[in-house]
Amino acid sequence: MSDIKIAPSMLSCNFSNLENELKRIDNAGADYIHLDVMDGHFVPNITFGAPVIKAMRPHTDKVFDVHLMINPAAPHIEDFANAGADIITIHAEADTHTHRVLQQIKSLGKKAGLALNPATPTDILDHVMDLVDLILVMTVNPGFGGQSYIPLEDKIADVRTRIEASGRDIDLQIDGGVTDQTIGEARAAGANVFVAGTYVFKDGVDTYADKISTLKGA
Ligand code: DX5
Ligand code: ZN
Repeated sequence: MSDIKIAPSMLSCNFSNLENELKRIDNAGADYIHLDVMDGHFVPNITFGAPVIKAMRPHTDKVFDVHLMINPAAPHIEDFANAGADIITIHAEADTHTHRVLQQIKSLGKKAGLALNPATPTDILDHVMDLVDLILVMTVNPGFGGQSYIPLEDKIADVRTRIEASGRDIDLQIDGGVTDQTIGEARAAGANVFVAGTYVFKDGVDTYADKISTLKGA
């Protein structure tokens, strides 16, 4: 099956050489470029914001998949849209008015994603299925790269059932601890977009393409 997408997380790349890292990961076969925005409030770390994403934008044509781990997200959505995000994913736990923020993302002409922390139940999706283009099931607690995969296959399968019932074209993404060892079960459960940071980047630039194709074949 080749209809899965790999979204390398630039969180694990060499930040001193962003332009080249983007070009390398693009050439290596990345489908989406996953950009982890952390605020030191919703999650423990601080990473980068819209100005850095804007600076990255000219160096690849790939889809910018922006994962906002920020609370609140609403005041910053327009900045990320203007910076060149294609998909903007917010966390279900971060904004009080989730429905409104998803509408805001759509009104800016962007695809809207909703992320669920490992403990967040899937019924939060009930009234937003018509607004989301991507559902992100977190397979780690957000905030750090390099954590161990939490097996949530039942949850992934539940979300897949909801997507099929909706009849809409919605990506089911997982993020955290994705390797050649863990991707298989998540894929069998119905995920189709896989974020991978540590696994793709840890052995250096010469291995990026092999890592991506290994994930696709696993
Ligand atoms: C975690 C981030 C992830 C992270 C994944 O909060 O959302 O995207 O970079 O990294 P790995 O693949 O190392 O678990
Ligand atoms: Zn992420």
